[in-house]
Amino acid sequence: MTPDQVKLVQQSFARVAPISEQAAVIFYDRLFEVAPAVKAMFPADMTEQRKKLMATLAVVVNGLSNLESVLPAASALATRHVAYGAKPAHYPVVGAALLWTLEKGLGKAWTPDVAAAWSAAYGTLSGYVISEAYGSAQAAE
Ligand code: HEM
Repeated sequence: MTPDQVKLVQQSFARVAPISEQAAVIFYDRLFEVAPAVKAMFPADMTEQRKKLMATLAVVVNGLSNLESVLPAASALATRHVAYGAKPAHYPVVGAALLWTLEKGLGKAWTPDVAAAWSAAYGTLSGYVISEAYGSAQAAE
């Protein structure tokens, strides 16, 4: 990611922050629509889950300017996700739902540059998480 892309991700995420609860609802609705099978992996009451997701995204987005600062937390997240039953192939599905949510939430502020920056950010994070959880040989799957 370029420094400009980091800035774009941070600025656009700040615009979503005021509607973060709503954004999380949209995200999980979208995820369960495109990947109904993963719904059963999540708790029935998603209230806490929504908060945890948005809080973690905030930490990661803030940490993009100093990636090394978030890698230990990302590594721990990766390990927990193996126990949740997450597979490498789920990550692109989650990423697509996240980008779709941001597109809806940002409206006109979702420009091609912003989209490319988020795509790079999610690609970096999920690539790291997958290699931590399953080994680098799995990262491309
Ligand atoms: C890099 C992308 C992802 C991020 C940032 C993320 C973030 C989180 C966070 C913050 C939690 C709350 C619990 C915890 O911190 O351990 C969580 C739980 C969970 N995540 Fe993810 N996640 C990601 C990708 C995925 C993927 C690809 C799946 C596969 C379906 C998944 C499935 C789950 C499940 C099932 C839980 C809930 C487990 C439970 O409470 O029983 N996540 N995720």
